[in-house]
Amino acid sequence: MIPAGIAGQRVIELGCGTGYVSAWLARAGARVVGVDVSARQLETARALRDEFGLGFALVQADAGRVPCRDGVFDFAISEYGASLWCDPHQWIPEAARLLTPGGRLVFLRPSPLFAMCLPEHGQVRTELLRPLFGLRRLEWERGATEFNLPHGELIGLLRENGFEVEKLLELAAPEGDPGTRWFSDDSTVEPGWARQWPTEEIWKVRRAV
Ligand SMILES: C[S@@+](CC[C@H](N)C(=O)[O-])C[C@H]1O[C@@H](n2cnc3c(N)ncnc32)[C@H](O)[C@@H]1O
Repeated sequence: MIPAGIAGQRVIELGCGTGYVSAWLARAGARVVGVDVSARQLETARALRDEFGLGFALVQADAGRVPCRDGVFDFAISEYGASLWCDPHQWIPEAARLLTPGGRLVFLRPSPLFAMCLPEHGQVRTELLRPLFGLRRLEWERGATEFNLPHGELIGLLRENGFEVEKLLELAAPEGDPGTRWFSDDSTVEPGWARQWPTEEIWKVRRAV
């Protein structure tokens, strides 16, 4: 997900967690700000950043309301941060505000198909457990709240906020992948499922000039 030519660019990671994506970007020469809502995650991110001698900023904020000026970033990224845990109707307009015209946004999220086939506990199923229409906010029994929009609705939201979709990558498990993959808590994805249907997807979009 780290694009070529990132050196010198102003980058924001939305929902940076422990900051390893911010670290990759900083190592590649970008000027990075990692944003996360959790003080504890930022504590870990700070400790790791300092241990490895990397220079990037860390800011505690909700990805839907980031305390930075308009149009100051060339590139925004979210790897299972805002892209999963924050309402897209809040963080996507915010990403558009933060990016310069022509700026790029890349995010990784679970696919809507995966969200429709994932039970509360156990393996992802080969049947649809919830409808596509109305898919938006997923409240799990374990207390987590996640977000997932159907493709059409997400494209509409991106376009309303001035983004052009450049690429949607639907990820397949590699051939020969032997093991069970843990997704979250006790939910698992067998490689057999993930070779036939996308568990995750990467969106590459650009703010119109
Ligand atoms: C699973 S981590 C992924 C981040 C990173 N890629 C990692 O693996 O460490 C999700 C992060 O999103 C953060 N997060 C959740 N909701 C957020 C929000 N509304 N604004 C900013 N960060 C948020 C959480 O605090 C957590 O650190």
